[in-house]
Amino acid sequence: MTEEARDTAARQRLFIDEAAKHVDRLKEVTGHTPRACVVTFGCQMNARDSEKLTGILHACGYEITDSEDADFVIFNTCTVRENADNRLYGRLGALGGHKKNNPHMRVAVCGCMMQEEGAVARLIKSYGFVDLIFGTFNIHRFAELLVTMFETGERVVDVWREEREIVEDLPVVRKYPFKSGVNIMFGCNNFCSYCIVPYVRGRERSRAPEDILREVRALASDGVKEIMLLGQNVNSYGQGSGFHVSFPELLSDVCRVDGIERVRFMSSHPKDLSDDLIGVMRREEKVARHLHLALQSGSDRILKLMNRHYTKAGFLTLVDKLRTRTPDISLTTDIIVGFPTETDADVDDTIEVIEKAAFDNAFTFIYSKRAHTPAAAIKTDEDTAAKERIRRNFDRVLSTVQESAKQRARLLAHRTERVLVEGVNERDESLLTGRMSNNTLVHFPGDRSLIGSFVDVMTDENHGFYYTGHKI
Ligand code: SAM
Ligand code: SF4
Ligand code: F3S
Repeated sequence: MTEEARDTAARQRLFIDEAAKHVDRLKEVTGHTPRACVVTFGCQMNARDSEKLTGILHACGYEITDSEDADFVIFNTCTVRENADNRLYGRLGALGGHKKNNPHMRVAVCGCMMQEEGAVARLIKSYGFVDLIFGTFNIHRFAELLVTMFETGERVVDVWREEREIVEDLPVVRKYPFKSGVNIMFGCNNFCSYCIVPYVRGRERSRAPEDILREVRALASDGVKEIMLLGQNVNSYGQGSGFHVSFPELLSDVCRVDGIERVRFMSSHPKDLSDDLIGVMRREEKVARHLHLALQSGSDRILKLMNRHYTKAGFLTLVDKLRTRTPDISLTTDIIVGFPTETDADVDDTIEVIEKAAFDNAFTFIYSKRAHTPAAAIKTDEDTAAKERIRRNFDRVLSTVQESAKQRARLLAHRTERVLVEGVNERDESLLTGRMSNNTLVHFPGDRSLIGSFVDVMTDENHGFYYTGHKI
C-alpha cells in the first residue's frame, strides 16, 4: 500500500468514529439500535464490496439486517445488462413506502450503475428520497460520505470519474464465516466490445502480492477455509504493476497459507490462460477442480467483433489441453446470444463448441446494448422478427447447455467427494448443503454443527445439476 493510501485509510477510520456518534444520537432519538441493510446486485466483485460496506456500517454501530425495512438501506448496483438497471428501479420504488413511515430512514445507492451519468440524473430526478449516491472508485470513503450526509442533512452525490489509490485495511463483515472472496485486482483493460465493465470499474490495478497474502493469512486465522481470488481477468494479474509475481505464482503462494484448504479463482480470459496456470491447477491439491472460462460465442466472425482475441479452434484446443492435463476439473462458461449481426449460422458454431467442450454448466445471456460500448454502434436489425430469432437461438443454446450439464453431472455419481458444508438446505431443514471441489452442490442429512467444515460425502443420486448423498 502507498503512503497516500495508508493516510486515506487512517482518515477513514477517524470518519468511522465520527459517523458512530451520529448513529448513537439516532439510537437515542429512535429508542432502538439503528439497523442497516446492504442489498447487492451483480457479480462476486460487488458481493465483496458489499462486505466492505457492511463492515463500515457495523463499525459505525449499525445492527446489520437483511430486511429493507431498516434505518439505512444501501443498494450496491450492477449495470452489466439493462435488466440489472431495471431491477434497481423496481426495488427503489418499493422502498419509497418504508421511507414515508420512518422519517429517520436514509437511503443510499452506489456501485457500477452510479458510474453512468444518465443513471445518477434519473435517480436525482425521479427518486428524490435517495440521500447518498457514490460510485465504484470511492467506496473506501463510505464513512466520510456518511458523515457528510448526517452533518449536512442534504443529499450527497460524489461520483469519481477515474480510479485512484487502492486502500487496504478497512473493516469488513463477511457473509460467510468460513469462506471469503479476496480481490487481487480491480478494473479491466480488455474492452470486449459489448461490455460496460471497463468504463464503470476503470483500468486494471493489481494489489501487491504481500497485501493479498497478508489478507489471506488474516482470514485463515479468523476461521476461513476457502478463498476465492477475484479479478475480471486474473490471468493478467500483475501486468504493468511493477510486481514480478504472475497469477500462477500468486495462486501457489495462497495455497501455502496454513488453514486455507481450498482456493478458487474468477474469472479467467481464454486469450491468456497460461500453461503455468494449468500446471498449478494440476499440482496443487488445494486449487478447486473448477475453471470458469468465458466463451461468449463460438463464431470467429462474432468473436472478432467482440474483441475477444481468440478463435473457435483456439478455444477448443485450449479445452483439449485442459481436459488432457486436468481431466477432473469442471469447466463452466458464459455465452451471449444475439450480439449485433449474429446469424443462425453463428449460433450453430456456438452450439458446436458447447457440444465439443462438454461444459459442466454455463450462464447464458441475451445481448444487452450498453451505452458507450463499441458494439452499441453496430447497425443491426432490432425488429420483432429479429427479437424472436434471438429468443429461438437462446433456447437452442440453453437446451444444448442443459444437455451437456446433465451428461457431465452423471459422471459424479457414487463417488466420495470432499465438500465444504455451506448451510442448511433451503427446502428441507433435515438436509445440509455442501459444495464439491468442482462447484457442484450436494444435499445430505447431517447436523448443523458441520456448517463451515469439510466432510466426505458419497454422491448417491443425480438430480440434474445437483446431488443427494450421505456423509461417510
Ligand atoms: N470478466 C469476466 C470474463 O470475461 O469472463 C466477465 C465479467 S461480466 C461481469 C460477466 C458476463 O456478463 C460476461 O462474461 C458476459 O457473458 C456477460 N455480459 C457482459 N456484457 C454483456 C452485455 N452487454 N450483454 C449481455 N451479456 C453481457
Ligand atoms: Fe467485460 Fe471482457 Fe473485461 Fe470480462 S474481460 S469484464 S467481459 S471487458
Ligand atoms: Fe460486476 Fe455488474 Fe459491476 S457484473 S463489475 S457488478 S457491472
